[in-house]
Amino acid sequence: MNILVTGANGQLGNELRLLAAASTLPVCLQNGGSRFFFADVTEASEESLSTLRRLATSVVDTSTCHLDITDLEAVRAFVQKEKIDIIINCAAYTNVDAAEGDSERAELLNAKAPANLALVMKEVGGLLVHISTDYVFGGDPYNTPCREEQTGTPTGVYGLTKLHGEQAIQNIGCQYIILRTAWLYSEFGRNFLRTMLALTASKPSLSVVFDQTGTPTYARDLASAILAIIADYMNTVPSMSSKGSSEWPYGGIYHYSNEGVCSWYDFTKVIAQQSGHLSCDIQPCHSDEFPSPVKRPAYSVLDKTKIKQTFHLSIPYWTDSLYHCIANILRH
Ligand SMILES: NC(=O)c1ccc[n+]([C@@H]2O[C@H](COP(=O)([O-])OP(=O)(O)OC[C@H]3O[C@@H](n4cnc5c(N)ncnc54)[C@H](OP(=O)(O)O)[C@@H]3O)[C@@H](O)[C@H]2O)c1
Repeated sequence: MNILVTGANGQLGNELRLLAAASTLPVCLQNGGSRFFFADVTEASEESLSTLRRLATSVVDTSTCHLDITDLEAVRAFVQKEKIDIIINCAAYTNVDAAEGDSERAELLNAKAPANLALVMKEVGGLLVHISTDYVFGGDPYNTPCREEQTGTPTGVYGLTKLHGEQAIQNIGCQYIILRTAWLYSEFGRNFLRTMLALTASKPSLSVVFDQTGTPTYARDLASAILAIIADYMNTVPSMSSKGSSEWPYGGIYHYSNEGVCSWYDFTKVIAQQSGHLSCDIQPCHSDEFPSPVKRPAYSVLDKTKIKQTFHLSIPYWTDSLYHCIANILRH
C-alpha cells in the first residue's frame, strides 16, 4: 500500500520518517510491502535533516514532496497520481497562543484541510489517520481521565478548530482513525522538552505551572502506535474484501499519550534531573502568573483503555520515554 505522511517536517512527521526506515517496522510495511511519501509545505530544516541522519539506524528518506493540504485539488491530484491508500495527517496549526489571534488560518488548517483529506480518501476508499489533541477537552473541571465519547469542551481557538476537524472527518464518513494525543515532544523542532533543556542549563531559577495536569507524549511512541494500527489495517483489509466486507471495523476516535500523569512543573523537574541540570532552582507557580492569550485546560489526561484493548498496544511510562528522548538529544 502507498502511504502519504502530510506535515512530514514537523515533530511527528520526522519520527515517522525515522521509524519507516527502521528494522522494527511491522513486517507488512517492510520489503516493498508499502511505499511512504513524505509531504509538507516547506523543505525540512538543516537542523532536522542532520538530526534525522544522526538518529537513523539505516538510510532514511529525507525528501519532501510539496503538498499544501488546504488545497483540495492538489491533494486529489497527488493521491490519484501516487495511488495513495492511507494518509497520516501530521500537519496542523499547532501554535496554541497564536491561534487566538489567527482563528481563520487555524480553522483552515485544523478543520478545512482535514476535511479535504477525508473527502479524497472517501473517493478512493482509503484510510485517513488524523491526529487531534487533548485540548478538545478542558472547559469542564474534569478530574478523571477523559474518554473518547466525552463531549468536547475546548478552552481556546486551537482546541475548538481541532474539534471542528474531527467533526468534519466524521461527517464526511471516510474510513478514519482520529488519534487524540497530548503534550508532544521529540528531538525535532520546538517543543517544551527542548525549551526546558535549554532553560534549566542556562538559568539559575525557573517557575513552572503546577496547576495544569496532563501527560507528556514522546512523538516516537505515537509514531510507533500509528504504524502498528496501519499494519493491523493492512493485514485485515484483504481478508475483509474476500468476505465481501469493505469497512474496517476498528475505525473511530482513540486516545494515545504515554502512561502516567504530571503537571508541567513535574515534567520540568524530571527533565532537569534526567539531563543533569541540577543547579537550576525550579519552583511551582500558578497559570495566572504567566499572562497568556488563551486559557489552557487545567486537566486533560486521556484515558487510553480503548486503544490498548483494540490494538493490543503496550504504552511506555512517560519518564521512561523521556529518558530515551533526552539521551538522543544529549548524545549530539
Ligand atoms: N505539539 C503538541 O504538543 C501536540 C499536542 C497534541 C496534539 N498535537 C497534534 O499532533 C499533530 C502533530 O503535531 P506536531 O507537533 O508534530 O506538529 P508540528 O511540529 O507543528 O508540524 C506540523 C507540520 O505541518 C506543516 N504544515 C503547516 N501547514 C501545512 C499545510 N497547509 N499543508 C501541509 N503541511 C503543513 C508545518 O509546516 P510549518 O512549520 O512550515 O508551518 C509543520 O511542518 C498535530 O495534529 C497536532 O495538532 C500536537
